[in-house]
Amino acid sequence: MKKYYLLAPGPTPMPPRVLQAMTRPILHHRTKEFVALMKSVSTDLRWLFETTSDVLVLNSTGTGGMEAAVTNFLSRGDKAIAVCGGKFGKRWAQIGKAYGVEMIEIEVPYGSAVDPATVARLLDEHKDVRAVFTQGSETSTGVAHPIREIAALVRHRPDTLMVVDGVTSVGVMPQPMDEWGIDVLVSGSQKAFMLPPGLAFIGVSAKAWSFAERSTLPKYYFNLTKERKTQGNGESAYTSAVSLVMGLRESLNMMKEEGLPAIFRRHALLAQATREGLVALGCELLAKTHPSAAVTAVYPPSGVAAGDVTSTLNKTYNITAAGGQDELKGKIFRIAHLGYAGRFDVVTAISALEMVFKELGHQFDSGIGVATAHRVLEAGGDL
Ligand SMILES: Cc1ncc(COP(=O)(O)O)c(C=O)c1O
Repeated sequence: MKKYYLLAPGPTPMPPRVLQAMTRPILHHRTKEFVALMKSVSTDLRWLFETTSDVLVLNSTGTGGMEAAVTNFLSRGDKAIAVCGGKFGKRWAQIGKAYGVEMIEIEVPYGSAVDPATVARLLDEHKDVRAVFTQGSETSTGVAHPIREIAALVRHRPDTLMVVDGVTSVGVMPQPMDEWGIDVLVSGSQKAFMLPPGLAFIGVSAKAWSFAERSTLPKYYFNLTKERKTQGNGESAYTSAVSLVMGLRESLNMMKEEGLPAIFRRHALLAQATREGLVALGCELLAKTHPSAAVTAVYPPSGVAAGDVTSTLNKTYNITAAGGQDELKGKIFRIAHLGYAGRFDVVTAISALEMVFKELGHQFDSGIGVATAHRVLEAGGDL
């Protein structure tokens, strides 16, 4: 038997409590019991998104939430800015263009964060931009964009929305919707929510709802105005993914027990230990600044092929990590540390990588990666 370890940035491992909650007998979605469940989940999603406005639950993966963020607030011919610093930034541009939105794409070198000054310049040049789309954490590169700074640029423009793909940043890094002025914040269940894929979440500010009134893009299943009405009454417009919502109730319980400051501290510490452990082994970080606390992306040590790292992890050790995507395919590998992740997941990852690197012929002081990660974790105190 080889124990399986999931170290990819989604789906992420599930805690037994959440798994168990999902095995309860199914409820009908138009019952008092389910209405009470939906209402309690909505309240706690607002807590997690740090907003007093609405956070809606959609039956979809994260991309459906992204599509809803375009189709519900914009109209054909509108202009929008997309921060394209990786696969998911490009996805914003692709969705916008698919619906006839004129997308101004900021090409950010993979591994870098967008410079807010570039966004400021484009907003000055194009006074009619209706939305700025970006990622909180660009999972394909392991970069966290400076959301707070960008939101500050957008906040005082009544005709522009700040839209954030928080698929791997909600529940990982601070991103208080109301305080920072984020108008639309999207996330997905298979990341920090510690759930299977299948739910998307979308926080919507009062400003964004006023855009929704004027939006003429086509929408049917992901009609957020309709969902707002029904979810306000503890139901959803169509059949709810009942078992996923039962699991969500439990994962939110776990997050509330830990508390937001501790959640953010844990992710930051795991990320730091991963980075330092990998660098000690001769890897090079892709994100030189602004690293994400959800996932660490690195170039392997020289002489080692990234594809061999992930395939050896998989074949020899039954560990799923992630390779590079798009233009980074074959060049980097990624180790995730979000959701149901603790210090020994980092130790396992670094220890396994030491074994893999040895097998692939890379020379290093045996144990140096693990010792480095230990040092960071010990200095970080109790988690
Ligand atoms: C930052 C980011 N955005 C969007 C997505 C797309 O989500 P999904 O694959 O759930 O549709 C992902 C998935 O990994 C992601 O990491």
